[in-house]
Parts: sequence; structure tokens; C-alpha cells
Amino acid sequence: MSKAIRIHQTGGPEVLSWEEVDIGDPLAGQVRMRHTAVGLNFIDVYQRTGLYPLPGLPQTLGMEGAGVITHIGEDTGDFSPGDRVAYAMDLGSYSEERLIATDRLVKIPETISDQTAAAMMLQGMTARYLLKNSYPVRPGDTILVMAAAGGVGLILCQWAKFLGARVIGCVGSASKAYLAKANGCDYVILYKEENIAEKVGEITGGEGASVSYDSIGKATLEASLDSLRPTGTLVSFGNASGPVTDLNLGVLAAKGSLYVQRPTLASYVRTRPLLQQCADDLFNIVETGMVNINIGQTYPLAETARAQQELEDRKTTGSSVLIP
Ligand SMILES: NC(=O)c1ccc[n+]([C@@H]2O[C@H](COP(=O)([O-])OP(=O)(O)OC[C@H]3O[C@@H](n4cnc5c(N)ncnc54)[C@H](OP(=O)(O)O)[C@@H]3O)[C@@H](O)[C@H]2O)c1
Repeated sequence: MSKAIRIHQTGGPEVLSWEEVDIGDPLAGQVRMRHTAVGLNFIDVYQRTGLYPLPGLPQTLGMEGAGVITHIGEDTGDFSPGDRVAYAMDLGSYSEERLIATDRLVKIPETISDQTAAAMMLQGMTARYLLKNSYPVRPGDTILVMAAAGGVGLILCQWAKFLGARVIGCVGSASKAYLAKANGCDYVILYKEENIAEKVGEITGGEGASVSYDSIGKATLEASLDSLRPTGTLVSFGNASGPVTDLNLGVLAAKGSLYVQRPTLASYVRTRPLLQQCADDLFNIVETGMVNINIGQTYPLAETARAQQELEDRKTTGSSVLIP
């Protein structure tokens, strides 16, 4: 027997329960792995509350992990017991052990620790598709990043800076502003007290930003749109303050022929080749030192409820890792 954090109903952090689970043997194309580190992500909160649907209940939550293969089924290609592996966007990582299909796994390079892998797979591959696919950043672009001191935020800002962008980050406190500036932000807006669009206007001489990468959702929709230059792009990729449900398309014309995308990482890693390419690009930028993965806090896996509460209360910075 091994243990996992499961839910039997959606709700607040109190529905997360630390339980014994039966893992079983891997089927063809699967391995059994033992987690050494598990990533904490805001999507876990959306799944716990019911904002994002789950395939069924009870359910082991968690979408990202790293560890070691202990058993293999048939047809597992070049994966063997003892391999260090990591993954993102596969439900069930809040567990000491799990079964997982090999087409969702990548091998962790020797230079990258398990904790770093668990901290960066989901947030780092997200930063990559945002910067390279959703709105491909070019040198000289001015970009706006919400929650710049968060998990996705710190990776995104560093990577954008490496690509030659001028980065404006929005954060909720002075200490987060300091962190964002140390990780790629040229300018920081304290969005609890400053007007985002006015500040972006001042910084860009009235032109506006090329893109707003907005993970806050409902509370910042208007500010994001008002901060864009004509024909600029809003990439609305999260709902930390609540989902955007009522955007009138006519507003996009009135505010300057704007573009909007509502993406998910799942689309960009939907096949094995796409996943490997995305992961390789992330490993490369981290191994060359251009992007540093900031693990702001770790928690015992058994205390995931506390970790999720702190994430929701805006108390965390950078990435959070759960230790089985
Ligand atoms: N679509 C995708 O593919 C995808 C993939 C990964 C993540 N995401 C999204 O990206 C966002 C960031 O994820 P993350 O895991 O890296 O989390 P995070 O940014 O580390 O944490 C969320 C941050 O959002 C800010 N925030 C603003 N208003 C908030 C509110 N009402 N409640 C809670 N937080 C609020 C807080 O920073 P301040 O105190 O600085 O405001 C908080 O620290 C999430 O919305 C997540 O869903 C989307």
C-alpha cells in the first residue's frame, strides 16, 4: 500500500484527504513510478473546487511530478527501472507512487534535480508556449505579465528577457516586486494600488504593450485590454481571480482591433513529439542558466491542503514543491 491525497467531493482545501491507495501493476505501455517530488499548480485548485471538471470521484489530484521508475509493463520502449522521469498534465501526481503511460514521460537530464523538474515541467512548458506560440515574442516587444512573481510568472519573465523583450510585471506586494525585478522584469506595477493601463501608457509613451499574458482572469481583463497597443494580443491563460465569462467581441474592435487567445498547455503537449520538443527546450534554457527555477517553498505531500491554501491566499512566490 502507498498513500495519496484524494478528494471524494469538490470544495475547499478541507476535502483533500491523505489516504492509502492500491497502485497495482503497470499495463502495456505503462510504468510504475515512485515520486520524489510533486509540483503544486493553480490548476489543482480549479480541479479541487470543481471549476475544471474531473473524470470522476474519488480522485487523486495533482498534474505534475518527478521520480524514479520502479516497474515496467510490456512495450515501454527505452524506459527502464531506475530511470529518473518527470511529467506534467497527467492527473494523479499527489501520490507516493502511481502508474503512468510512457508517452506522457520524459527523462530528466543529469544536471537537473528531481525537485527542479517537479517545479518546472508544467509552469516552464507553459511559459514556453506562451512566448513561442500564443504570442511569439520578438526583440524589442514590450510585454505585460500578470502575477509576475508567481510560478509561471518568474519563468516567463526571465525567458522573455532572454528573448529580448522589455518586461512589465504586475505583482501584489513590495517583496514580490523585488523578486520580479531580480528575475527579468524591467518595470514592476503594484496592481493593488496602481492603475495598470495608466502605468503601461507612461512606460510605453502612450503606445501600449504588444501582449498581456494574463493569468488573473476576471479581475484584470479590462486592465489587460486597456494596456495593449492597437492590434495587440491578450493571452488569457488563467482564472486566479475567477474566470472570464462575458467578453463582448465588439470591445476588441473599439479598443484597437485586438486579438485574444484562451490557451491550455494540454494542446501544446498533446503528442509525444510535441511534449519532448517542449521539454527539451525547457531543459536547455535551464541547463544553460538563462532561466533559473525559483522554488519559493516546499511542503510535505501530506500537508497539501496547507500548500493549496497558501497558494490561494497569494502567500507563495515562484514554484512550490510537495515532498512525498
Ligand atoms: N492555461 C495554461 O496552460 C496554464 C498553465 C499553467 C498555469 N496557468 C495559470 O497561470 C496562473 C499561475 O499559475 P501558478 O501555478 O504559477 O500560480 P502562481 O502565479 O504562483 O500563484 C497565483 C498568483 O496569482 C496572483 N493573484 C492575483 N489575484 C489572485 C487571486 N484573486 N487569488 C489568488 N491569486 C491571485 C497572486 O500573485 P500576486 O500576489 O502577485 O497578485 C498569486 O500568488 C494560474 O492562473 C494558472 O491557472 C495556466
